[in-house]
Amino acid sequence: MGDAGGLTASPVPGSGASVAPPPLLPPDGGAPQGWLAEALLSRGISRRRFLGFASAMTSLLALPSAMTPQIVRALETTKKPVVAWLEFQDCAGNTESMLRTSHPPIADIVLDALSLEYHETIMAGAGHQAEAALKNIHDQGDYILIVEGSIPTAENGIYCTIGGRTAVDILREMAANAAAVIAVGACAWDGGFPRLGPTGAVGVGDIIGDKPLVNLGGCPHNSANTAAVIVHYLTFGTLPALDQYGRPMFAYGHLIHDQCERRAHFDAGRYVEAWGDEGHRNGWCLYKMGCKGPAATYNCPIVRWNDGTNWPIGAGHGCVACASPRFWEAMSPFYDRLPNVKMFGVDVDAQTIGLAAIGFVSVATAVHAGGVVARRARERRRMATVAADGTVVPAAAAPPASAAPPEGTAPPAASAPEPPAPSTPASPDGDGPSA
Ligand code: SF4
Ligand code: F3S
Repeated sequence: MGDAGGLTASPVPGSGASVAPPPLLPPDGGAPQGWLAEALLSRGISRRRFLGFASAMTSLLALPSAMTPQIVRALETTKKPVVAWLEFQDCAGNTESMLRTSHPPIADIVLDALSLEYHETIMAGAGHQAEAALKNIHDQGDYILIVEGSIPTAENGIYCTIGGRTAVDILREMAANAAAVIAVGACAWDGGFPRLGPTGAVGVGDIIGDKPLVNLGGCPHNSANTAAVIVHYLTFGTLPALDQYGRPMFAYGHLIHDQCERRAHFDAGRYVEAWGDEGHRNGWCLYKMGCKGPAATYNCPIVRWNDGTNWPIGAGHGCVACASPRFWEAMSPFYDRLPNVKMFGVDVDAQTIGLAAIGFVSVATAVHAGGVVARRARERRRMATVAADGTVVPAAAAPPASAAPPEGTAPPAASAPEPPAPSTPASPDGDGPSA
């Protein structure tokens, strides 16, 4: 795969198709272990809540509800997976995110109930004891390897060493025997913030070559998505469908702008103009305050944080696109409007390509194509959009009905702006439509 957005891509994405890593189940199909059932029972979690969790995972994975029983069966009968968590150059925010997970209700227990046999930050063992635990996991093989933090490569990797070995060496060795690798957070995905420093920091995909890899971007990542990836793996023996950045489509396949509770204000031209103004107090759209939601994808508006109570935009701050490629560089200045940031549209482009890769656009040629296209055309006429130069095109100026694509053709993304030409100027007044 080519270098998308300057990233060295993981080997699994590209087509968006699922890949099949080595099976986690033993050859005999796996005798019922009941590991999750036991873990739930010991914490007083009823079967009803377990079934509710399985249903929530089905929904999070964007699977038909009819697949819930299959997920239940898998979680009840598969062997308890062994997980090793490596932490390199980072702030430990993803570990914090994992430790604080409690939504969906028992995702934390699924993560907790895994055989997390190595995690430097939280394990009791240290020194030689810890190194022996890691070697033991490596020698057993077929574990899930979770990696947090970037990997410094400058000066032969000396900026991050553990037990006298560089992060590069440890990662290569542990990835070699893993069944699958999950990179959590922006740093592990593409080098994140450390990439801007002198350590030559890169992401996991730049180091491990051809291993099955899932990138869970975000700063930090959301552990509900980690749980969902593991549930998918345990249920189907494969990784979920990925986009060209190696991110699961179920979590990174939709624009934040299209899932945002403030979208009606955007469409109506009601914007926050200054922090604390009337619009801010009334929950209006944060586009003019630098919100990158129209150019970013993630499921944070749905999954949310802190027991699912809120998310950045809900708390009154614009999205900084923390789950988008190289967001520290590409999406800053964080408080500038979209046309003034460097790589406006990169994530949208990613989404478009990723959706095309998994055949999403074929919906338009299906039996109900006419209805879908017509509905989306109607939606476009009702909604304001962001033009290529970052200005807002109000609903009233949206294309007339005759401009809708003919039936049977692929509909354009409902609100996806195209990447601007490098010389595209910002709008003269810098304003969207008036209220
Ligand atoms: Fe929500 Fe931001 Fe879009 Fe406004 S610009 S609707 S705050 S995502
Ligand atoms: Fe990150 Fe934006 Fe969501 S900053 S958590 S992608 S609202």
